[in-house]
Amino acid sequence: NNDIVIAPSILSADFSKLGQEVRDVAAAGADWIHLDVMDGHFVPNITFGPGVVKALRPHAAIPFDVHLMIEPVDPYIGAFAEAGADIITVHSEAGPHLHRSLQTIRSLGKKAGVSLNPATPENIVDYVLDELDLILVMSVNPGFGGQSFIPSQLAKIRSIREKIGRRPIRLQVDGGVSVDTIARVVEAGADTLVAGSAAFRSGDSARYAANLSELRRA
Ligand code: DX5
Ligand code: ZN
Repeated sequence: NNDIVIAPSILSADFSKLGQEVRDVAAAGADWIHLDVMDGHFVPNITFGPGVVKALRPHAAIPFDVHLMIEPVDPYIGAFAEAGADIITVHSEAGPHLHRSLQTIRSLGKKAGVSLNPATPENIVDYVLDELDLILVMSVNPGFGGQSFIPSQLAKIRSIREKIGRRPIRLQVDGGVSVDTIARVVEAGADTLVAGSAAFRSGDSARYAANLSELRRA
């Protein structure tokens, strides 16, 4: 299926040479670059901020898909938009004003996404469907790469696919996506797959194209 987007997460890349890693994974056939921003508060890990997103921007022409795992989020949306994000995704659990956050993202000319933790019910999207370009179902608890896929999220993916109907909203899944799980995730209705450890597996950039084509084949 040509409409399937694969977004490698640089959380699993070598942080000592991120620019090179972004260039290599883009050359290997990545559709988007997924950038995981963590604050040590909303999630128990710390990664990078808008400065790193900005520094990486010239290294690839494909969309930058920025997944914000930070709380509060509203004060930082502008900085990530300016840094060169194309899609900005906020967590529904990260603040009381999801509708406002989504409006802010779109007002800056960016695509707006909402992410749902594994325990968050899908009906959180019901009253913001018209403000959304992407819904991200977390299939692990956010914070770390390399965790196992949580199968209960398949029912949520199916239910959100029905809610989306004919709207132009992408349905993204993040966490534990691998050659062993990707078929079930797509069958349930996802069209946009984040892959961290599966994409950067082996750490050998000569393998990235093979890693991505194995995912597509699966
Ligand atoms: C987890 C991040 C994911 C992570 C996925 O909090 O949001 O994007 O990189 O890594 P894998 O694909 O290894 O589960
Ligand atoms: Zn992510």
